[in-house]
Amino acid sequence: MIWSDLRREAEAAKNWILSLRRQLHKHPELMYEEFRTSQLVQDTLSELQIPFEAGIAETGVVGTLGSGDGPCIALRADMDALPIQEAADVEFRSEVDGKMHACGHDCHTAMLLGAAKVLKQREESLKGTVKLIFQPAEEGGAGGKRMSDAGVLANPNVSRIFGLHVWPMLPTGTFGSRAGTFLAAAGELDITIHGRGGHAAMPHQCIDPVVTAAKVITELQTIVSRELDPMNSAVISITSIHGGEAYNVIPEQVKLQGTIRALDTDTFQMLQKRIEETATQIAAAAQCRAEVAFPGNAYPATVNDDALWETVQELAGELVGSDHVHEIPALMGGEDFAFFAEQVPGCFVGLGIRNEDCGATYSVHHPMFKVDEDALPLGTALHACFAVHSLSQPTE
Ligand code: NI
Repeated sequence: MIWSDLRREAEAAKNWILSLRRQLHKHPELMYEEFRTSQLVQDTLSELQIPFEAGIAETGVVGTLGSGDGPCIALRADMDALPIQEAADVEFRSEVDGKMHACGHDCHTAMLLGAAKVLKQREESLKGTVKLIFQPAEEGGAGGKRMSDAGVLANPNVSRIFGLHVWPMLPTGTFGSRAGTFLAAAGELDITIHGRGGHAAMPHQCIDPVVTAAKVITELQTIVSRELDPMNSAVISITSIHGGEAYNVIPEQVKLQGTIRALDTDTFQMLQKRIEETATQIAAAAQCRAEVAFPGNAYPATVNDDALWETVQELAGELVGSDHVHEIPALMGGEDFAFFAEQVPGCFVGLGIRNEDCGATYSVHHPMFKVDEDALPLGTALHACFAVHSLSQPTE
């Protein structure tokens, strides 16, 4: 049976995959600085005799397998690390101060290289093309958008795309995802409240932006609780507030930062509009002025194609048994796989990596985050299954 063959081939490549993963783990690089990582990807593809294009969106790499023409499908991995000091006790601990692969993107890259190796061995039988997309800057830099804008989904046109994320909530040996929206639309928020500073003993001669900021923060919480359908979900979190330096001085201004999450683009845009209106009008009522900005790259929601998730569920079931493939709730985390899945039908899946026995129990973005590496060949196998299955379809 082809699926169990692919799993066996992925298991046979386990040490090779782990060695790549550990090299990446030791040398984490932040967004758009993944030069060493990119070089390792390129060297590995060269070693596998897989042609590639590099330097897309700075450090992105796209390898190509198969016949070179349509139908064409894509497998995607992200490569960047986070500005976190690693506290996990692993022998291949980060050698770079203040940087860590705390979101498992080292695993994603290694698993996709594993799939490249497995698929290369059966390249002759691929009836079409597989693009291997290694992207930079998932952690807020919208590397996926830049890769997509650079045309990686064209020539030949990609008809479907697959991506994996390590999933600490699920045990090793399982997969999880869902039909439709899986991850949230996410964006950043800056609000500056301008008042008039002065002596704190004479507030009547000042316009106090601190009190106004407090009102704005409180009022923003009513947008989700009072204006949104309770069956819809969204988050507005103010995560930073800065203003003033002294006990006895009312400052000129207060700066707020935060994050906005929603399960669809319409809700996300509604939240942005209402945040702007609420902040400016509350500020105006208090004789202050609010400046509202939405900096950075807002990520769209990651929406799985329903039929593709059906297919992936079946393939994953062949690998680990259908009782180990779970329909899991959507999450308010953001993910820039969304930029690809906006263009072509996509499926983004969580790979279980939780294992109490090896301390793999912490959430991603935690300094103690650890991965049960036994899960990695399963990720490689599902990538390979997706490619083989997609290219055996009669039409695309
Ligand atoms: Ni991640």
